[in-house]
Amino acid sequence: MSKKALITGVAGQDGGHLAKLLHEKGYEVYGTLRGQLEASHPRYQAIKEEMPYVNIVLADMTDISALTRAMIEIQPDEVYNLAAISHVGYSFRDPLLTADLTGKGVLNVLEAIRLAGLEKTARFYQASTSEMFGGLDYNRPGDGYTEDSPFHPRSPYGVAKLYGYWITKNYRESYGMYAVSGILFNHEGERRGPEFVTRKISKAVARIKLGKQELLELGNLDSKRDWGYAGDYVEGMWRILQQDNPNDYVLATGETHTIREFVELAFKEVGIELSWDGEGVNETATDVATGKVVLRINPEFFRPAEVDILLGNPSKAETELGWERKVDFPGLVKLMVEHDLADNS
Ligand code: GDD
Repeated sequence: MSKKALITGVAGQDGGHLAKLLHEKGYEVYGTLRGQLEASHPRYQAIKEEMPYVNIVLADMTDISALTRAMIEIQPDEVYNLAAISHVGYSFRDPLLTADLTGKGVLNVLEAIRLAGLEKTARFYQASTSEMFGGLDYNRPGDGYTEDSPFHPRSPYGVAKLYGYWITKNYRESYGMYAVSGILFNHEGERRGPEFVTRKISKAVARIKLGKQELLELGNLDSKRDWGYAGDYVEGMWRILQQDNPNDYVLATGETHTIREFVELAFKEVGIELSWDGEGVNETATDVATGKVVLRINPEFFRPAEVDILLGNPSKAETELGWERKVDFPGLVKLMVEHDLADNS
């Protein structure tokens, strides 16, 4: 009998990668979509076309009855909780919705597992995040944040995720559940939404190269992120659920780069060399060959509070899970730009 996995948020970046991986490993895969997406809806159809092996379940993260029904009907062996408001900037605009979905939604899934009587059999993975660390002066990452580093979230998203992290730990300690967190640093790729900075850059660079766009507008270029490839990270998620004992793990690359470095590398990938001029909100980047300004700062993309630096230490995951990454930073930039060049040609 094949194992059954339920993925909340299967339509997201990680949901797609994970569903494919689990399908290839022989799982029967179920994935939730928000309610009211009828089978005739184009979005539903698109997901069905892209991932025909996913059994779609309509269940909203705020609806515990729908979640419980899903648990009873499916009887999953593994539950991956990926559904969330996941855009940090957006969470400042809709903090209450973020708390309901990204925070309390985790509790809804955990309770649904218990109400269905699956707390001793189903394994639960919570998509925790490096945004919980915050990167302030008193808790700079040093050689990289570990599973023991202090938390200080800097956004409604980070605060909601911290609740999810602790309630998962609490259910593990209270009810003996195999309920664990992967604390994932930024992970990107060709499935990333264009509202996130890497995909916004790779798309714009491809379109500028192809003459379909003139300008890229960004916010803070100086924040640093530990960026890996999402395809590598879902393998880590799966490994986290296959251990003898439940435990939390950091998944990261151990390298950090500025947004500016990502921009420079992406333009270089299409043969455009940049020269930087000005400072702060007046900074611009010009294509050296054409003399045209291709990037400028738009304060609209600044955040009320910023995480200046994220750098993770994946030693525990590497040692205990044997987790490794196939794509490095230049490889990631190349993969994304090449994908967007092909997509926009
Ligand atoms: N989105 C966006 N858009 N970010 C920009 C822009 C822009 O135009 N310009 C600069 N940035 C900066 C942000 O201020 C931030 O410092 C950095 O680029 C990365 O932003 P995002 O790509 O939106 O990702 P994130 O780091 O805030 O959050 C992502 O990673 C987390 C893990 O660390 C998300 O995937 C989260 O869901 C995830 O938990």
